[in-house]
Amino acid sequence: AVVSAPLKDKALFEIGAAVTVAHLKEPDFANTFKTNFNQLSAEYEMKMKQIWTSATTYSFDGPDYLVNFAAQNSMKVHGHTLLWYKSFPDWFINAAYDSLNFENNVKAYIQTVVGRYKGKIRSWDVANEIFADDGSLRIDASVYKTFKDPIGFYERCFQYARDTDPDAKLFYNDYDQVLNSAKRSSLKKMVERFRKEGYPIDGIGDQFHTTVWTDKATINIGLTDLASTGLLIHISELDIRVNQNKSDSYVFTDAEQQKQANMYKAIVEMYEALPQAQKFAITVWGITDKYSWLLSWWSPKEYPLLFNGDYSKKKAYEGFLSGLK
Ligand code: G3I
Repeated sequence: AVVSAPLKDKALFEIGAAVTVAHLKEPDFANTFKTNFNQLSAEYEMKMKQIWTSATTYSFDGPDYLVNFAAQNSMKVHGHTLLWYKSFPDWFINAAYDSLNFENNVKAYIQTVVGRYKGKIRSWDVANEIFADDGSLRIDASVYKTFKDPIGFYERCFQYARDTDPDAKLFYNDYDQVLNSAKRSSLKKMVERFRKEGYPIDGIGDQFHTTVWTDKATINIGLTDLASTGLLIHISELDIRVNQNKSDSYVFTDAEQQKQANMYKAIVEMYEALPQAQKFAITVWGITDKYSWLLSWWSPKEYPLLFNGDYSKKKAYEGFLSGLK
């Protein structure tokens, strides 16, 4: 078999993967991760619900484990994610804080978490998925219900993170900004407002949960438009679905594997075509197909990542590698 170079050795930017503490305790998983990747994203343990156990108590065992694993393996860490409407803890939601208490508590959370990992977590998704699919703000989010000006609240949260760790790169993260022009337009307006009002933002993460049937030209137009902001661009949660009909009888044939490899190659090439100064990382949302979130969210017959269940490299891995300059 062709012994291909580890991805991390060929790229001029970081090659990340999303991992969990539980999976890192499996030797095959950990070895595959540290051999091929040089950046860690927390798929789960760095979310507010997992860390913030009460207004004044925090659970850092999970994040500490991940940060230590990365340090021991000379990997960078991308913190996912400080604010996500799906991850506010129940005790926080039930407190039904007014805007002043809401913000003071969140400010203390950001200062505590970003402060603990100052110098160890090089970048943060400060906010994740604040826009609905039509580009409006998510009205089901507690931030929206609490603040007359939700964007103003997010601006100040980026500032709290900046003040706590001036060296950390601060990202806004979301899905389908590349494919959805309404969402992308709202994102660009928000970036302009941050700049006009003097609030910090360093990068945009587009999750890139995509498919083999997505139009490549549309992806490239959206990605190029996103990059027109001049910000760092993070492909932050890349996985590529193949089972378009969610069919129980889907077979991941050689031809299907090649289709997926071609899409990985195409996306990596689009990213490589961006200005060097705007490249940050490509992060795949998992290591092995058998643990992908898509098996439950999309279909048990899904094969979206770079490694098979036995940790052998897929054609997708070779496709990704061939897309690197
Ligand atoms: O590990 C616990 C287990 O101890 C417990 O018994 C069980 C019962 O609830 O939960 C297990 O945790 C699950 C965790 O994944 C395991 O890693 C959570 O239930 C489950 O909700 C969690 O799902 C994650 C989800 O975010 C919510 O945090 C998915 O793995 C993860 O892929 C998904 O990632 C999101 C990104 O953060 C944002 N973009 C979309 C992406 C996909 O939804």
